[in-house]
Amino acid sequence: MRLETEPGFDSQPSVFRDSDWQEEVRVEVRGMSKWFPSVAGGEPLLAIQDLTLSIAVNETVALVGPSGCGKTTLLNVIAGFEQADQGEVLLDGTRVTGPGPDRAVVFQSPALFPWLTVWKNITLGPRKRGVPKPEYEGRARDLLTAVALTGFEKHYPYQLSGGMQQRVQIARALLEAPDVLLMDEPFGALDYQTRLLMQELLMKLATKFRQSILFITHDVQEAIFLADRVCVMSRRPGRIKLARRIDAPKPRDYRFLNSSEFLEIEPVILETVREEVTTIGAASPATGEERQ
Ligand SMILES: Nc1ncnc2c1ncn2[C@@H]1O[C@H](COP(=O)(O)OP(=O)(O)OP(=O)(O)O)[C@@H](O)[C@H]1O
Ligand SMILES: [Mg+2]
Repeated sequence: MRLETEPGFDSQPSVFRDSDWQEEVRVEVRGMSKWFPSVAGGEPLLAIQDLTLSIAVNETVALVGPSGCGKTTLLNVIAGFEQADQGEVLLDGTRVTGPGPDRAVVFQSPALFPWLTVWKNITLGPRKRGVPKPEYEGRARDLLTAVALTGFEKHYPYQLSGGMQQRVQIARALLEAPDVLLMDEPFGALDYQTRLLMQELLMKLATKFRQSILFITHDVQEAIFLADRVCVMSRRPGRIKLARRIDAPKPRDYRFLNSSEFLEIEPVILETVREEVTTIGAASPATGEERQ
């Protein structure tokens, strides 16, 4: 594991890309800031300030940080749902100006079409693009099995539990095998066992398709288990405060959770997040600057 520092930021170690990371960069967020307009006549809110982060091809970056620090906002800007006010986001060197099929998003809560069955929700992407059924059917069936929803193909979302709906959303995103997978606490609603299975599945598929993944979670164990790099965001306005490379080969299984690498890094990440959470109360609403 390596640790690098960015001079001048809170005197805290901060890494955005390891200098020896040889892979081709897929997503590059450069000096990005994001403001939200004032709510009810208050001050505009600086959600993210001068954030720089890159994600390589075949790299999973897990993002952890206190609630309200700007994780979802960052994801939305990379997805093209929100525009940066300063800086830019590049995808394979081209500036992102809106959503595109090269990026799939898995939201915190299921975003399914209520009038479509499970099967039609999962296969929506290829069907909309006019891909012939034989080209996606086999893989869609495999994914249906992987997310333990075989037999529920004809159900509608309202006939599923929250966790099952989330698994449909995950299968839909994985079927698309996009270059970039943006996941916002995707496994938060799943039971523990399903969550472990989904983590292993995601890692296997991501390795197979050489996807770049931004994975937001509040679960530090999950972040370390899945990631090639764990990034901790500061309290709002969000920046990357610390990044640690996780070297263990992938795909990993549950035994990694008892490895010396895992046990060494977990307290470092937990402590860094905790420092940010415990200073939240000292931040003003508009800027996040500490009160004097
Ligand atoms: N559309 C919006 N309009 C105004 N303020 C917003 C908007 N979206 C987010 N914010 C503010 O931006 C800040 C960052 O929000 P964001 O949802 O990115 O946090 P988060 O890190 O994802 O938090 P959580 O872990 O709770 O999901 C918060 O203070 C939030 O109130
Ligand atoms: Mg969020």
